[in-house]
Amino acid sequence: MTPATAPHAAAAPAPSGLSAAARAYLLGGAGEQRTLQANVAAWRAFTWWPRVLATPPHVSATVELLGRRWPAPWLAAPMAHLLLAHPQAELGLALACAAQGAGLVLSTQATVPLERVARAVLPEPTRGPLWFQLYPYGEPTAWLHVADRAAQAGYEAIVLTVDAPVQWTSPQARAAGFALPADWPQPNLPAGAPHGTLDALLRCALRWDDVAWLHQRCPLPLVLKGILHPADARHACDAGLCDAIIVSNHGGRVLDGLPATALALPGIVQSVGGRVPVLVDGGLRSAADVAVALALGARAVLVGRPLIEALASAGPAGVAALWRQWHDELRGTMALLGCAEPAALHPNLLRSPAPTDP
Ligand code: FNR
Repeated sequence: MTPATAPHAAAAPAPSGLSAAARAYLLGGAGEQRTLQANVAAWRAFTWWPRVLATPPHVSATVELLGRRWPAPWLAAPMAHLLLAHPQAELGLALACAAQGAGLVLSTQATVPLERVARAVLPEPTRGPLWFQLYPYGEPTAWLHVADRAAQAGYEAIVLTVDAPVQWTSPQARAAGFALPADWPQPNLPAGAPHGTLDALLRCALRWDDVAWLHQRCPLPLVLKGILHPADARHACDAGLCDAIIVSNHGGRVLDGLPATALALPGIVQSVGGRVPVLVDGGLRSAADVAVALALGARAVLVGRPLIEALASAGPAGVAALWRQWHDELRGTMALLGCAEPAALHPNLLRSPAPTDP
């Protein structure tokens, strides 16, 4: 099994370059890892039921997101502390993504300054979207300051993570001795964010009022990441609080026992009713999984752990190879399903034994 295609990241052999502690933090999940495993399994529970003799003459994987057309329907998910995975950290990931037409969401907890990543990515003609993920640490004015920094640097959206008001180090990571050094680089944290332990860093209790406040003042489109319940998606759209939604359970890293995102996605697509684009992440381990997500109504997807495994084992070249392989596989899958473009993928092409309501 190659690192790039490992279906069960948590059970895969250790990618070269990762210590046991780093591996437990980067690839593990919360609690008993039920949600982490459910995410992966749920995409695979679907089967295709295509019609034959309907192959399109051309297949394009391009998608429109927030007013621009991009080469592929995927972005690297925001991921903290990638210096644990490779010396080039988020910069290596960003360059490989940009070269292959994949988007990037840079984490608040990235170890490289957001400006440096933007300077590397923005001149690349093949690049995908460049978004910045915000953890609302400290005072609201500090969130806005970071959002302004991102806008000035050229980022195209702010991704506000709403599903991690409390996080703690997983039992596996604790047992493996995971801890960040005191001088760990954190150049993008809002002022007033607690430095030091991971536990202290990840305390942010947001309310809908805060989202409205930020949306009014944010210089960039606002994307809400971590929506799982259709009622939350409906509220966000009814109140006009966001420009896109990412269906996510944080890759099973926060609350164990949450439903797989593949099961939450259809209900949210329905409640949003096309008012904003819906993206999804969690457990996507192949281009075939991505095709399922697109067929269920996602406009695009975010990918996490497979990129960490690729980066740790083969550096930016490994990330580039993964995206190239996924691009070929997605277009091949679409051709076999009779779909000329991602928007042509449709739930009618799928059968699932699993219930799809959360
Ligand atoms: C994450 N994730 C995350 N999300 C976020 O909004 N801000 C962050 O800083 C991080 N940090 C982070 C670190 C690591 C090591 C991982 C693996 C994940 C969650 C991430 O954006 C995404 O939701 C999941 O990783 C998607 O699931 P898969 O693709 O990893 O299964």
